[in-house]
Amino acid sequence: MLPEIILFVAFLFTVWSYVTKKAQRTPPLPPGPRKYPIIGNLLKVPSDNHWVVYDRLAKECNSDIIHLSVFGNSVIVLNSFAAATEVLDRQSSISSSRPLGTMIGEIMGWKYIFSLQPYGQRWRDSRRMFWQEFHPEHGRAHHRPIQLRCSRDLIRRLYESPIDFQNHVRHAIGAGIISVLYGLDIQEEDPNITMVDDALKHINVGLIGTCMVDLFPFLRHIPRWVPGAGFRAIGENAARDLNLLIDVPYSQTRKLLAEGRGESSFIHRTLSRGPIPDGGMEERILKEAATTTYIGANETSKLPMTLLFAMMAQNPDVQTKAQQELDQYLDHRRLPEFGDEIHLPYTYAVLLELLRLEPTAPLGLPRSLVSDGEYKSYHLPSGSIVFYNIWAILHDETTFPEPEKFSPSRFLKDGVIDTQLKDRVMATFGFGRRVCPGRYFALDNLWLNLASILSVYTMSKAVDESGQQIEIDLEYTADLNRHVLPFRCSITPRSEKAENLIHGCRL
Ligand code: HEM
Repeated sequence: MLPEIILFVAFLFTVWSYVTKKAQRTPPLPPGPRKYPIIGNLLKVPSDNHWVVYDRLAKECNSDIIHLSVFGNSVIVLNSFAAATEVLDRQSSISSSRPLGTMIGEIMGWKYIFSLQPYGQRWRDSRRMFWQEFHPEHGRAHHRPIQLRCSRDLIRRLYESPIDFQNHVRHAIGAGIISVLYGLDIQEEDPNITMVDDALKHINVGLIGTCMVDLFPFLRHIPRWVPGAGFRAIGENAARDLNLLIDVPYSQTRKLLAEGRGESSFIHRTLSRGPIPDGGMEERILKEAATTTYIGANETSKLPMTLLFAMMAQNPDVQTKAQQELDQYLDHRRLPEFGDEIHLPYTYAVLLELLRLEPTAPLGLPRSLVSDGEYKSYHLPSGSIVFYNIWAILHDETTFPEPEKFSPSRFLKDGVIDTQLKDRVMATFGFGRRVCPGRYFALDNLWLNLASILSVYTMSKAVDESGQQIEIDLEYTADLNRHVLPFRCSITPRSEKAENLIHGCRL
């Protein structure tokens, strides 16, 4: 009996010394609000404006990194540029993966969308395929003519029915990316545009942390008829809508190409690069990469584009200043083109300020840590979900005084764009290995549309039947990527010369 007792005591001693040594070795977690047993900080997880709440919590903790836990899941929020660059750039070998919940990944089928995929070979293959198409030189040669065409079409549509400006923005962005990806011509209320809205309307349901099945993945096996299993029907509908988006535009392109009618497109160019057998894995990756890109492009640029109309109506002095710069350079003889931005610093500053003021994805796309990390002597446990607070970075008073104010001139230093501040605004596209690969395309598109609109239209507050100005009170959706809810605004051609330029946009 004695040997067993000695062995047992030795075992306990080994375990105890391992645990205490580990506790001594492991630095503390980042600060955060008080955690309750089992639920952790569940009660502190906001339902809205998470970025503002996390920013406040970080300030209360006097730290640029905070830690929360929800049912034992570790959540880290990086609340400064320094924290985001240290963890996401310098420690990118451990922080480039994404958490993929059971609901969105498995049940809704979004594991095929490479922007949400964990770090790995499939993600790498998709991103490489994307980058061959969208790296700046290739992209500019193939995409700019399409972006120009869609931008001119937008100018024309704004003239014909200014009241529908939010729809026109949606159409211009959708039509541009569909043409680039699939070579398809987009009609009014085209199903290829409504299809992406259908697929996306489900995404909030599946966002990590919003579903019980993410916390308890075994729930995915419960039969559909069991009370509480409604998430399965929702998930299956979402998967059906996503599969339509993956298959339908791709099949249309293949059909056109087979008939010798397809225009040059991402699909066409990728297929021409090498044999991609029908039905094989490479074809599947191509289809999914196209869908990921379509979603990425469609969802993100609408906010800064729509915000332009509101900000110009609310800040007529900014609008006048940009228009004076445009008039001086273009002399009312033509609309802006790519390459003009270098001569139009104030107008470019308007674009930067729009991106800064209301970032489309205020907390980026979440990451997950594949091993333990460290920041400022805090322990960052493997498996943690990491949010980076883009909104807080772009509202940091030390870099952007009076951050709530719309003030493009903050970006100008001696009459030219301050490159350091411009680089800081690029945080809106994320960090490290998962940084948005569509940012060059996005900036080109936003620039051309913004400069063209400002050169021929004046935005002002709409007036109601009794002649009273209608104040613009912006409201946003609470989606992963935010959108501006409909608002009214008056859009009128600036002059006869402007009207002539608009008429020149008829295709
Ligand atoms: C104003 C416009 C845009 C903004 C603010 C934006 C923002 C972002 C952000 C914050 C991320 C996550 C980056 C990270 O985790 O560090 C992202 C990823 C991504 N974006 Fe964009 N984006 C924009 C436009 C576009 C466009 C036009 C495209 C396609 C042409 C695109 C395609 C993607 C893709 C494919 C990813 C996933 C990258 C990956 O996970 O490897 N985005 N974007």
